[in-house]
Amino acid sequence: MKIPSSSATDLNKKDLRHMLTMNEFTKDEIDDMLELMTLLKNARKDNAIPELFKNKTVGMIFEAGSTRTRVSFEAAATLLGGHAIFLSKRDIHLGAKETIEDTARVLSRMCDVIVARTNDGETTQKLTESATVPVINGLDTVYHPTQMLADIFTMQEHLPEGKELTDLTVAFMGDETDVCRSLLLTCTKYGINFKQIGPKKYHMEEKWLQLADKNCQESGAHYEITEDTKKVSECTVVYGDSFYWTTQVDEKEERLAAFMPDYVITKELMEKAAPGAMLLHCLPANDKEEITREALEGDYSVAFDQSENRLTAQMAIIVYFTRHYVKDPSKEVREQHQNKINAFLEKL
Ligand code: CP
Repeated sequence: MKIPSSSATDLNKKDLRHMLTMNEFTKDEIDDMLELMTLLKNARKDNAIPELFKNKTVGMIFEAGSTRTRVSFEAAATLLGGHAIFLSKRDIHLGAKETIEDTARVLSRMCDVIVARTNDGETTQKLTESATVPVINGLDTVYHPTQMLADIFTMQEHLPEGKELTDLTVAFMGDETDVCRSLLLTCTKYGINFKQIGPKKYHMEEKWLQLADKNCQESGAHYEITEDTKKVSECTVVYGDSFYWTTQVDEKEERLAAFMPDYVITKELMEKAAPGAMLLHCLPANDKEEITREALEGDYSVAFDQSENRLTAQMAIIVYFTRHYVKDPSKEVREQHQNKINAFLEKL
């Protein structure tokens, strides 16, 4: 069935895919996205990125603050020859004077992809139900899929000699955050072993573990949820994230008391990890809480490469999800329109 077309797109429903979680993609599809990232990163090194999103627009709904996700999508759109419009909560009517569904319909007719960072797990889902262009989840408090692509790509770039991604074991230090949950599912889907190391009260909920179990049956990966920081010795990747999100500031003292000092990433903790272990952090980092400055800037830290790879990932995401309909018109079609418009203008 054909979706009513907008001026910007001509998209068949079968080609329309959204990115809500990484768990909805197969390992082969994740590999395709990683390969596209490599091609685009190489093109960027030569300042020769093809204009694969020329004259196209990303509509970016951001209900919450962001440095990396916002800037990387805006820069990615520019590098690909397109443009991004930043729409904060106060700029648009989303869910207030206009339904989420109507906002999705309208943006779909003016933009070629929608990125949404929302304050709950439902708004982005609702956008996908009415949007006729791809909706990309830029963090919805449940999942953070665009972060995952950058993370796996960074691990691949820094693999220990002779190792493959599926040889890695990732230790996430701390709370069951959107990143922790996304990592559990992305790693187990891909075949990477995963551990959440943190206090029992903040361990992963059963419903996510059931999804991970299914992934492990297919990929052969293993996961473990533990309080035992000694388990870091089995891990080739140590991963940090904030001990509380902006919506949890009223729990800050309680959370810090539960996590500090045992689960803080320090130089000493990194020395206990498996030989050659790398340190990732999704950032922003609080170097007085979940990580020390010394660890964040240690030789083993790839956190800033990881943050740069957000840009690599967003370029690949824009291209991958719009590839069926963002195509340059032929020279003839362009000329036909130009001639008709010129003829009209001459009559004015
Ligand atoms: N890691 C991450 O999503 O960063 P921002 O909140 O700055 O986008």
